[in-house]
Amino acid sequence: MTSSLYAQRRARLAQQLGADGIAIIPTAPEHLRNRDSEFLFRFDSYFHYLSGFGEPNAWLVITAEGHTTLFCQPKDLEREIWDGIRLGPAAAPAALGVDAAFPVTELDQRLPKLLENRATVWYPFATHVGLESQIDGWLKAVRARTRYGALCPDTQRDLCSLLDEMRLIKDAHEQAVMRRAAQISAGAHIRAMQLSARMLRQGEDVREYHLDAELLHEFRRHGSQYPAYGSIVAAGANACVLHYRADNAPIRDGELVLIDAGCELDGYASDITRVFPANGRFTGPQRTLYELVLASQEAAIDATRDGVRFTDPHEATVKVLAQGMLDVGLLDRHKVGTVDDVIANRNYFAFYMHRTGHWLGMDVHDCGGYVEPSEIGHVSERRDPLSGEVIKDRPSRVLRPGMVLTIEPGLYVRPAEGVPREFWNIGIRIEDDAIVTDSGCELITRDVPVNADEIEALMRV
Ligand code: GLY
Ligand code: MN
Ligand code: MN
Repeated sequence: MTSSLYAQRRARLAQQLGADGIAIIPTAPEHLRNRDSEFLFRFDSYFHYLSGFGEPNAWLVITAEGHTTLFCQPKDLEREIWDGIRLGPAAAPAALGVDAAFPVTELDQRLPKLLENRATVWYPFATHVGLESQIDGWLKAVRARTRYGALCPDTQRDLCSLLDEMRLIKDAHEQAVMRRAAQISAGAHIRAMQLSARMLRQGEDVREYHLDAELLHEFRRHGSQYPAYGSIVAAGANACVLHYRADNAPIRDGELVLIDAGCELDGYASDITRVFPANGRFTGPQRTLYELVLASQEAAIDATRDGVRFTDPHEATVKVLAQGMLDVGLLDRHKVGTVDDVIANRNYFAFYMHRTGHWLGMDVHDCGGYVEPSEIGHVSERRDPLSGEVIKDRPSRVLRPGMVLTIEPGLYVRPAEGVPREFWNIGIRIEDDAIVTDSGCELITRDVPVNADEIEALMRV
């Protein structure tokens, strides 16, 4: 990948910084895990979006005139023997297309000079611990020079507001990487399903971690760097714990397994959930709820296209699920009334307590506002039927081509009085990743089937 893509992004950002603006963007810090071992380093998404540079200990400074300075780790033979090759400031301009590069050890000395005579300093607010006080320190040094005629910036602004809007629409390069990440993850889900059925057929002890290992193997063997988030492999009742993490519970014949897992590839996440019968055959009640969630997902997919609101797929899902809850007896129509009552009073929330999607990109819950910027002043108030709280609503974001979101309805049935016993402890979520297009949406995760018969067929292999 050439550095020109990143240079174009920096140029687009520079145009938005205003007269005499300047932006400061650090990469992520390294974190100690214990004693002298560190957690695996993952760059900051904003920093990488603008540089393509993956080393720790690096900063970008971009001026409104489009001049970029990189601060990075200096070449150091001893450190490179231990930790690996560093690009170093001398090679950085040619490799990354930046205008200047200095050792990060010179940051404190050079930043006041770069900030001098600037009007506005942009940096990501509330993102990097200690960044505000570092900037304060540099501004103090600028202020000390005002008596010699230097101007000190008098405005600080949140850089996230600009970068979030840019990252919300994925360009062709980003879409291509996300398609590939989705494809790898889909293959991993298929392997995990097949492993579960095979081990049970062979009479082996199957644990959640066996399937987790299968996912990881498939991610890594195709070049993914790591999972995009902690993989959820939840057997039986564990599927009703929304943030359950792959652990060591046994996977039993007759249970469902929920896997919510996706790889990260070259900085981009995928996010897939599938639910399947551990032994490869759905029972009647499992299939009833599975097909209800699938129908609700289909309604959401149909509602995902250019020009609709972000909340439209969620509302389409809720309509189908609420009706289904009445039809299968999860909700008693004598107690809760019609489907419209169930929606108005949020009775469905007992079994479906999350939203139908989120932005997906460099971060699994990617940046990007959920309110339509052009309508931010249109506020309406409503009282939440469950909490009684007054909620301020603003019109939800209008979907545009190139936005990427997940579509992930679910149903989670905990044992409770009045709930048919045959559905107890069934947890289902079906999650696909969609790129909004002119005419609808492109589902990039469908290399792993969702249809119940197709899942059973692939698990017979
Ligand atoms: N895997 C996280 C989510 O589905 O939102
Ligand atoms: Mn998700
Ligand atoms: Mn997920």
